[in-house]
Amino acid sequence: MYAIRLGDDGAELRPLEPWHAQEFLAHLERGREFINQYIPFGSKAVDVPTAREALQRYADLRAADTAALHGLWLDGTLVGGVLTLNFDAANGTCEVGCWLEPAATGRGLVTRAMRVLIDWVIDQRGIHRVEWVAAAGNEPSLNIARRLGMTRDGVRRQSHLHHGVRHDLEVWSVLAPEWRQARAAHSEH
Ligand SMILES: CC(C)(COP(=O)(O)OP(=O)(O)OC[C@H]1O[C@@H](n2cnc3c(N)ncnc32)[C@H](O)[C@@H]1OP(=O)(O)O)[C@@H](O)C(=O)NCCC(=O)NCCS
Repeated sequence: MYAIRLGDDGAELRPLEPWHAQEFLAHLERGREFINQYIPFGSKAVDVPTAREALQRYADLRAADTAALHGLWLDGTLVGGVLTLNFDAANGTCEVGCWLEPAATGRGLVTRAMRVLIDWVIDQRGIHRVEWVAAAGNEPSLNIARRLGMTRDGVRRQSHLHHGVRHDLEVWSVLAPEWRQARAAHSEH
């Protein structure tokens, strides 16, 4: 139920909810070191109760309409996800983020899911500016921003302290008219 197919390879986007705690934990255990290279996502989820707590925090944010977590399943296995953050419908702004376990990389899963998510926030929720924030060294993440046609706004120098290292954060964005224009140009080919 409530699944969006992302292609013919068994990839699906679905809500990721507290009842997925066991599956979420198993997925994190397969990818923790890779996922946490630049971001602390899921690092507090170390057993089923804490995995449920992490998912419940996102469920509460979803209920408050300030964030939403969506899981990526490949042939029935949870392998990653995409999310909205700092969602501000009144101001028309939000941030989007993503993660994958290593085995699911290199197949365009996040790029494909992001297109669906950004279409939805712009077309259905009236968001005007979608932001992408990534550590300057996180090339795979910056490549997604590039692939999605985002513009590099600038750098928040040394603003992200992670694992004892201060990282520069790159801020990228796409505005609703730019997104619609690129989508229309793409559909003509
Ligand atoms: C960031 C992250 C999700 C990127 O993963 P990814 O697999 O490179 O991203 P995508 O799922 O969009 O796949 C793109 C890759 O698939 C390839 N690809 C294959 N089919 C594709 C398709 N239909 N569409 C787009 N790309 C496709 C692309 O060429 C690209 O591979 P390349 O980089 O070798 O050229 C991953 O590195 C990750 O989870 N890192 C840890 C968590 C993290 O840092 N998150 C981001 C925080 S800002």
